[in-house]
Amino acid sequence: MTSTLSVIGTGYLGATYAACMSSLGHTVIGIDTDREKVDQLTRGELPFFEPGLENLLKIELASGRLTFTTNFAAATDADVHFICVGTPQKENSLAADLSYVEDALASIAPHLKSGSLVVGKSTVPVGTAQKLIERLAILAPQSDLAWNPEFTREGFAVEDSLRPDRIVIGVTSDRAEAILRTVYAPLLDIKTPWIRADLPTAELVKVAANSFLATKISFINAMAEVCEAAGGDVTVLATAIGYDARIGNKFLKAGIGFGGGCLPKDIRAFIARAEELGATQALEFLRDIDSINLRARQRVIDVVRLQLSEDLSSYKIAVLGAAYKPDSDDVRDSPALDIAAQLHAAGASVTVHDPKAIANAKKRFPSLGFTESVTECITDSDLVLHLTEWREYRDLDPEVLLSLTKTPRMIDGRNALDRDRWVSAGWKFHALGRANS
Ligand code: UGA
Repeated sequence: MTSTLSVIGTGYLGATYAACMSSLGHTVIGIDTDREKVDQLTRGELPFFEPGLENLLKIELASGRLTFTTNFAAATDADVHFICVGTPQKENSLAADLSYVEDALASIAPHLKSGSLVVGKSTVPVGTAQKLIERLAILAPQSDLAWNPEFTREGFAVEDSLRPDRIVIGVTSDRAEAILRTVYAPLLDIKTPWIRADLPTAELVKVAANSFLATKISFINAMAEVCEAAGGDVTVLATAIGYDARIGNKFLKAGIGFGGGCLPKDIRAFIARAEELGATQALEFLRDIDSINLRARQRVIDVVRLQLSEDLSSYKIAVLGAAYKPDSDDVRDSPALDIAAQLHAAGASVTVHDPKAIANAKKRFPSLGFTESVTECITDSDLVLHLTEWREYRDLDPEVLLSLTKTPRMIDGRNALDRDRWVSAGWKFHALGRANS
């Protein structure tokens, strides 16, 4: 059985979700207040880069099941309304800005038919769903509200949406669960684990998962610091501890740390919310996770200074990577771009290359140098920084690049390049958390 759904907010999460739900056979109305975004999506163009998604978007638009609009009234017939708007970090505070979620609810409320279900997917501080239920009871008393957090990763969004490792729903009634079981029937058919929870638990699952992932990354980056001090190799250490199934080998890549629109702001919002709840001490450790993460960026800058000079003004630095991770054009809180900007601010001449993220990076830091060519980026450089582990950087030939540089120095901020290959080609090679010559 298929349903008619609205997806409110067609940014990264919403656009992906709308196309994927349409591909499951539902009729989907994507709603956004941004006219330009809606027009772009209607033309089958993605406003961001995500492997496989543009193709799916075109197929679903052609099927006639998927449409985009700025008009909330277009969703009057929908049975279920998914709120997928952003919850960015507030300026001057660690907390999340919930104004987009509140606006979405207020805008859809007058168009809710009796018995419809509003489902929050945005990442929110625990307690938000309860407040929204109370608001809904006034605005549209014949509707219900549920929470259904999203665990997709950028770069794998389609796969993660259509083959999720679990579906978590927070509901207050069996009826709400039954509606969501209908929406997700094709995913239940492929035996996706289904977890029914209360509203606060469903909200917490999301931030707990992201906090755990952030903790894993900062743990290995802390080990990298100790390895550097003790002359050890963090990549070997990660492989060795990863064989223990209780630890696992994923998310143990040491480097310049995590960024993006989720992990950094989610752990900060979680700290802020715990304080409000009187559970400050429980999440005190997340402050350390955040500072280990930011320190990884500083450690790279310290190595640059050690290798070149305290005064960077006469040096040309090539930066490979601007996106916060490969297969994405997202530069939100990108460690790579942050390092590039800090080196530029310190007086170095910085040229940045990225296969997909240059346009977004330019908007953030117009004064940095950018190029579409790796060769041009590296030419005459005193030092190359590898900061986002795109596949094409791993395929570079260090022998060919050697002669382009003024001095062949490489700092691998992602522990992703083949060190032996670069060293035997004649490069001075520094990797974070590994014994360096
Ligand atoms: C993250 C979570 O992984 C998703 O489950 C979640 O749904 C999403 O946030 C969200 O809240 O929407 P994402 O931001 O796409 O997904 O990126 P990740 O793959 O988690 O990577 C985050 C950052 O950690 C990147 O900057 C990456 O380079 C870094 N990272 C990751 C490491 O430094 N080391 C690792 O071993 C793994």
